[in-house]
Amino acid sequence: MTAGTIELSGVSTAYEGSDLPVIRGISFSIAAGEFVVVGGPNGAGKTTLLETINGMLPITNGQATVCGLDVAAHGTEVRKRVGYVIQNFAFDPLAPFTVGNVVIMGRYGLLGYGRQPREEDHRAAEEAMHLLGIEDLVDRPIGKLSGGQQQKVLIAQNLAKKPEILLLDEPFSNLDLFARSFVGEILTSIAEAGCTVVIVSHAFDALPGHDIRILAMNEGRISMDAHCRGDEVEERIRRLPGAVHA
Ligand SMILES: Nc1ncnc2c1ncn2[C@@H]1O[C@H](COP(=O)(O)OP(=O)(O)O)[C@@H](O)[C@H]1O
Ligand SMILES: [Mg+2]
Repeated sequence: MTAGTIELSGVSTAYEGSDLPVIRGISFSIAAGEFVVVGGPNGAGKTTLLETINGMLPITNGQATVCGLDVAAHGTEVRKRVGYVIQNFAFDPLAPFTVGNVVIMGRYGLLGYGRQPREEDHRAAEEAMHLLGIEDLVDRPIGKLSGGQQQKVLIAQNLAKKPEILLLDEPFSNLDLFARSFVGEILTSIAEAGCTVVIVSHAFDALPGHDIRILAMNEGRISMDAHCRGDEVEERIRRLPGAVHA
């Protein structure tokens, strides 16, 4: 079974027009349904790591295999199976979309060009909104919602895709304490249902209480790959040499 797996073998990636690799020779393997937290200081390469897994950057060395597919050769197919909630995204206050429009967009990549959503697509979008508790917002203009509400809509959009892997970059940053634990529980339940969850986060209070995996990064490398309980992550990351956190 390769669904939901991530295998990196000596992977380096650089941004277009730069010779300097941001990610340097990273190797790890993540099994389906694992709950992984990626930590480390600003500029360590955490966002770049997620973009590498999602096939958005040229791999200059090594091989990345996601859901059994070689990322360099099959980026589009990889992105159909991977949900990616990007960092600090905010909608234009005048964006002409409702919450319902934004969530169904999560299905568009699966539909192909010019095809209209069908019943199963609408059903997937409704299920995702229900899971996030945002059904009441369905007809509201997206740009008029708070940052935390928009964050939940973006998570629902990605879940509507029914991804095998869900990547989230600082998903808790706009959320209050209550919403953090609510979203933390949702992510735990989707990992239990077999979807691999990889979160970049500095907010450790919303992590599941059970055993999870921490990958700490520093200067483009993995500085720690360990398992611990969610409530031990902060302590483990703080103990790393040179750790400075925003
Ligand atoms: N689009 C880009 N072009 C060139 N360099 C980039 C780009 N985005 C990020 N970088 C550089 O890559 C390094 C890692 O960035 P990033 O992955 O965003 O770190 P983190 O998410 O851990 O804060 C930083 O040195 C940053 O300046
Ligand atoms: Mg980042």
